[in-house]
Amino acid sequence: MIHLQNVSKTYLSKSGNVDAVKDVNLDIDKGEIFGIIGYSGAGKSSLIRLLNGLELPTEGIVEVAGNRINEVSNAKLRKARQEISMIFQHFNLLWSRTVRQNIMF
Ligand SMILES: Nc1ncnc2c1ncn2[C@@H]1O[C@H](COP(=O)(O)OP(=O)(O)O)[C@@H](O)[C@H]1O
Ligand SMILES: [Mg+2]
Repeated sequence: MIHLQNVSKTYLSKSGNVDAVKDVNLDIDKGEIFGIIGYSGAGKSSLIRLLNGLELPTEGIVEVAGNRINEVSNAKLRKARQEISMIFQHFNLLWSRTVRQNIMF
């Protein structure tokens, strides 16, 4: 369902490059609930953003439900994103609702 193969993400900047994600191999099956934990700055958000194409990997293959997210056309990516939900950490949360209600919404 979700297949990551030798995935790396390096941010290039003048003050030095950052290896945010380094050679990650991961398979998550349909229906499986999978958590990613780690210290602040460990690369969790970068990894998640690779799954819906908000970031492109520097190296490796990112596949979700048969779509190679880092290779598909823009039109196909838009279609694939309709099936990939993401809840951001800070933005767009409804304070009047519980965590469960936010996720359901
Ligand atoms: N757009 C970016 N440009 C440059 N560096 C970034 C960018 N986004 C994240 N980083 C760096 O990549 C590393 C991993 O960040 P991040 O994926 O946000 O980690 P986490 O979500 O685990 O806290 C950190 O060192 C962070 O500063
Ligand atoms: Mg984060």
